[in-house]
Amino acid sequence: MCCNYSICVRVLVALLLCASVSINAQLSTTFYLRTCPNLQHIVFDVVAKASFSDPRIGASLIRLHFHDCFVQGCDASILLNKTATIDSEQDAFANANSIRGFDVVTKMKESVETFCPGTVSCADILAMAAEVSSEIGGGPQWKVLLGRRDSLTANRSLANQNIPAPFFTLDQLKASFQNQGLDTNDLVALSGAHTIGRAHCRVFVNRLYNFNNTGNPDPTLDSDYLQTLQEICPQNGNGNSLTNLDVSTPNILDNRYYSNLRSQRGLLQSDQELYSTPGADTISLVDTYSNSKIAFNQQFAQSMIKMGNIGVLTGDQGEIRSHCNFVNGS
Ligand code: HEM
Ligand SMILES: *[C@@H]1O[C@H](CO)[C@@H](O)[C@H](O)[C@H]1NC(C)=O
Ligand SMILES: *[C@@H]1O[C@H](CO)[C@@H](O)[C@H](O)[C@H]1NC(C)=O
Repeated sequence: MCCNYSICVRVLVALLLCASVSINAQLSTTFYLRTCPNLQHIVFDVVAKASFSDPRIGASLIRLHFHDCFVQGCDASILLNKTATIDSEQDAFANANSIRGFDVVTKMKESVETFCPGTVSCADILAMAAEVSSEIGGGPQWKVLLGRRDSLTANRSLANQNIPAPFFTLDQLKASFQNQGLDTNDLVALSGAHTIGRAHCRVFVNRLYNFNNTGNPDPTLDSDYLQTLQEICPQNGNGNSLTNLDVSTPNILDNRYYSNLRSQRGLLQSDQELYSTPGADTISLVDTYSNSKIAFNQQFAQSMIKMGNIGVLTGDQGEIRSHCNFVNGS
């Protein structure tokens, strides 16, 4: 009798643990419904205000979320500044002198902390900021899944390993995304984020003068566009000038990125690879998104949600940081 009772209790406890684990293990759109009902408005306000003085900020915030998610999951690890114990991802090749938006994230966090102290993770703020940036930029809206927790660590060498490079071939791009559980369709749809924002000459200048050490420009680059880019980026310049990733509608999150690719006006090699790799399965996807803003919007939203689910910390994993740039108590 006593034994049966204790087994019964154990089974009950196990069931409860199981239930709480499975509830915590996944994100939900209503996670802060009671604990921070104004969250969406707070984040929207800060991004909208920042956009007035800096039309590029939405692009920078979307990229911040991407570079967070590809390194040990969407856990705000990218926000951790360098300290004695943190090897900051901000110093990784893809991020150094390139990634931006930290000050606006701090503003969002401060505003969120006044209304709902100690409640909302920095990882969730990044996910929401990306969605709001899409909305403000003329792109799709979606219901953001929430409930992520913030990491206690960062990993610069993993950032160097996982964030794809602009000189990657299509096979390398596919492998990089596959490593995160993202497929070819996600790769093509998410690359559409390059419909907004800027890039430095240094990340594509090899295409303009000496592509793959041939001594010639990349043959998949339109000749007028090549000439324009050569004026912006001289062969022996410092590489720090900026140009628009989308030559046609630089600040609108639309599907012009894909029509640019079809007219050989992709800025990065990694962009043009999607359309100019002979026989690739990405060509028809580029055609589809170029022909239909609706199809693009639908898939971009779906793939952003999928990316936002990568390796999330939930339940009692990690923490809710008080300041996004530092782990608590440091
Ligand atoms: C497919 C592989 C990708 C590669 C190789 C790549 C590479 C790059 C590079 C080199 C830049 C310019 C950085 C600079 O010059 O400072 C850039 C900018 C940008 N990337 Fe990507 N990217 C990729 C995918 C993505 C994805 C999946 C997203 C988001 C969903 C994204 C969003 C952006 C945005 C919005 C910018 C402009 C940022 C700004 O203006 O601050 N990229 N990317
Ligand atoms: C943390 O790093 C960011 C980006 O490098 C920088 O803008 C910010 O000033 C740093 N914050 C602190 C408190 O050191
Ligand atoms: C960082 O990532 C590397 C893989 O590049 C891994 O070997 C290492 O254990 C990670 N370090 C930490 C502190 O998580």
